[in-house]
Amino acid sequence: MGENLEIEKKFKLRFKRSFVDDLAVFWRLLKEYRIRLLTALLCSLAISGINGAIAWSVKPAMDEIFVKKSSEFLYLMPIGVVILFTLRGVFTFFNNYLMSSIGAKIVKNVRDAVYEKILKLPMSFFCKDNSGNIISKVLNDVDLLKGTVSYTIKDFFVEGLTVIVLASVAFYRRWDLALLSFVVLPIMIYAIAKIGMKLKNLGMKTRLRIAKVTTLLHETLNGIKIIKAFTMQKDMANRYKHALQEHYRNVMREVRTEEFSNLLTETIAGIGIALIIFYGGYLVVNEKISSGDFFSFATAVMLMYTPLRRLSRVNASFQRGRNVIERLREILFVEEEPERGTKKQIEGNILFQNVSFKYPLSKDYALKNINFEIKPGQTVAIVGPSGAGKSTIADLIAGFWYPTEGDILIDGVSIKDLSLHSLRSQIALVTQDIVLFNDSVVNNIRFGNVSSTKAEVEKAAKMADAHDFIINLPEGYESLIGEKGILLSGGQKQRITIARAILREPKILIFDEATASLDTESEEKIQKALEEMRKGRTTIVIAHRLSTIKRADKIIVMDKGQIIEMGSHEELLAKGGLYSELWNLQFNESSSS
Ligand SMILES: Nc1ncnc2c1ncn2[C@@H]1O[C@H](COP(=O)(O)OP(=O)(O)O)[C@@H](O)[C@H]1O
Ligand SMILES: [Mg+2]
Repeated sequence: MGENLEIEKKFKLRFKRSFVDDLAVFWRLLKEYRIRLLTALLCSLAISGINGAIAWSVKPAMDEIFVKKSSEFLYLMPIGVVILFTLRGVFTFFNNYLMSSIGAKIVKNVRDAVYEKILKLPMSFFCKDNSGNIISKVLNDVDLLKGTVSYTIKDFFVEGLTVIVLASVAFYRRWDLALLSFVVLPIMIYAIAKIGMKLKNLGMKTRLRIAKVTTLLHETLNGIKIIKAFTMQKDMANRYKHALQEHYRNVMREVRTEEFSNLLTETIAGIGIALIIFYGGYLVVNEKISSGDFFSFATAVMLMYTPLRRLSRVNASFQRGRNVIERLREILFVEEEPERGTKKQIEGNILFQNVSFKYPLSKDYALKNINFEIKPGQTVAIVGPSGAGKSTIADLIAGFWYPTEGDILIDGVSIKDLSLHSLRSQIALVTQDIVLFNDSVVNNIRFGNVSSTKAEVEKAAKMADAHDFIINLPEGYESLIGEKGILLSGGQKQRITIARAILREPKILIFDEATASLDTESEEKIQKALEEMRKGRTTIVIAHRLSTIKRADKIIVMDKGQIIEMGSHEELLAKGGLYSELWNLQFNESSSS
């Protein structure tokens, strides 16, 4: 837990979005593994040293074996080569292993931190329509950090050092020759990069064009009847031909650029090599340097090709990593639900005082000036058309939102001063959306109280009228349910969630249209369970079918965010307002059907 706070701190910096800032974030993530990192760096040093040695040893090999024909070197050189290559392999192995392990560890920590953060985010975060996308994208993109950490940093050091070492060898062998090739080489790299950019743009265009072709095909398949009916076949065929032709032209343009870029690089490379051979050959012929010098130099330059190519990718990969950091901040920097306030054993008295509430992203108030009191142990029903604000009241009681104006007192204490954890641990909420996890029946029920025993789970299931169907499942309480598990009816699922709520032994029980999507028979069963359950606890029932709430101590009738009537069933019927209207409507409906 503490570790994850650490991660958040690591992302926090005074400045915003600067390059140095992001670099600092990387360093903060890495710092913990600095011993590993240092060891990996030493390996990098060894690898680049060996690369230098390989280029270096071309000179003695050339001069001693091929020119002087020394038999002593003939045996020593191959042994040396085997040793160098083996060592390079071993160091590369350790270097890659260490860097990858650092990358994987960091990704694991960050993923863990993000997940824990998600659990602590306030409901307002999840109200944005794309919050689900943001989260899944972030959790996936975190993987890119692994690449940045393990490959980018590794490449930067290994290849960077290798280039330096090889360049030193090249310069040491013959500085002016080296200078010559280092003028040609950058020009080549620049040209290739330029053409690469152009190709990328072209590639985009080609994809757009092919999309046009497929869209046309798709439209045709969907609208074939209309096309035939309007005798548009010929016209459509022409359109399709045209789109194909466009696509073909673009493909060929791409081919031309690619092939041209190859032609260009080959030519430039040819010219470069020719220059070097000419000048190098001139130096050898005039005995300014030995053939060994020349070939050692040439090897160093050739060995630089791969490291340089990798180095040129380092920046792009680092930028990808920076993007991930940016996204992570979007989640990590969101303020969490406060976990302060007093922990309190509650009785279950709920008092709404002039409560008005507005959802963060909406203009209109969802609740306006709500006043009511529920005494401990009372059952209160809330009824009203959909959108009236019933669920909002339930959510406010559970502390998912704080009132915009007014206050909610639980046992006389403002809800803002209560510890959310303590409050929620004494509330059970059963909603219309049935949430079951990919786990066994028993564990899904136990979600309400993880420390409960098997006997307690069974007792709760019996109260929720779920025990009988559960023991008839293939594996009884151990049967897997949820997305990947066995199929249960809506009523059965809901009874499991009710058992979960019962197991919690809440002081406040909230039923938010828990039976709305069920058939009458299941609803009756659940109704019976509810009768049993609400004894001794404050119960709030939100329901559509008024027959289910007749016996409530108090009925609150809501419309458009306001309370319009309040009283017992008999009182409200006598009053002849909206409630009695709704009641008569439903009564006639059920009696006529
Ligand atoms: N997360 C939300 N963000 C913005 N507006 C919301 C949100 N949830 C509900 N609302 C709005 O608040 C009002 C009350 O909704 P709700 O309490 O769900 O009504 P009910 O449960 O009575 O059908 C509605 O106008 C609804 O559109
Ligand atoms: Mg609702």
